[in-house]
Amino acid sequence: MAFFKSSTRDVPAAAAVPQHVAVIMDGNGRWAKKRFLPRVAGHVKGVELVREMVRSCLEQGIQYLTLFAFSSENWRRPQEEVTLLMQLFVKALEQEVEKLDRNGVRLRVIGDLGRFEPRLQELIAKAQEQTAGNTRLDLTIAANYGGRWDIMQAVNQMLAAQPDKRNGWQEADLDPYLSMHFAPEPDLFIRTGGEERISNFLLWQLAYTELYFTPTLWPDFDAVEFGKAIASFQQRERRFGRTSEQLVKPNA
Ligand code: IPE
Ligand code: IPE
Ligand code: MG
Repeated sequence: MAFFKSSTRDVPAAAAVPQHVAVIMDGNGRWAKKRFLPRVAGHVKGVELVREMVRSCLEQGIQYLTLFAFSSENWRRPQEEVTLLMQLFVKALEQEVEKLDRNGVRLRVIGDLGRFEPRLQELIAKAQEQTAGNTRLDLTIAANYGGRWDIMQAVNQMLAAQPDKRNGWQEADLDPYLSMHFAPEPDLFIRTGGEERISNFLLWQLAYTELYFTPTLWPDFDAVEFGKAIASFQQRERRFGRTSEQLVKPNA
């Protein structure tokens, strides 16, 4: 599929729906707390909402959905919660991959996967392999992911491949080594749960992304809430440094 690689240079073709949506799924713990449930109950409910989000993307023809599931900083949580999150990840892979595959979803997991237990690493590799031929939706899960980690691992790979470059390295030299190299930059970023920060998510790729923050907690972020985020996106004028008048408007 053709796309503008760097939205910081080119105005993407006007699209009814965003081509790439990136989400920080936040607020599971608070959702559970409000109901006097353990935090993990919020994470379990959160997985259900992922299913719903995937369904919405398929229905609306959104090509790329990238979800932040576990940050490189989340290891700092209590051991018990980290363990339960890992178990949930394993379970989700065991139970959902068949269905994703049947629906034409290609699954990728980005992040520093070496820190996960072997069983989880195996499941990830298997899921990626099984769904590699699918083209309806590119679903990417960021796990043990950090934006700075991503940039540094890409820089290291770039320098190893090409240690000397007379005129200096360009953005395009780095691009193939970034974890999201296969996708256009996100058009729409959503963070649920009320916090208005990026939390070390896709730092490089969010340079010109439209940001949407909502107080709605992730387990409550249903298709209607997603619709509101898309409606907000559709009302925005993406200028990428230009003036309003410079933008080519089909019916103007
Ligand atoms: C997001 O929900 C899920 C993960 C980080 C795994 P939280 O667990 O951060 O929920 P809150 O922010 O405590 O409500
Ligand atoms: C960020 O959530 C990452 C994920 C949703 C996986 P957190 O809830 O951990 O973020 P901070 O640390 O409060 O910003
Ligand atoms: Mg949180």
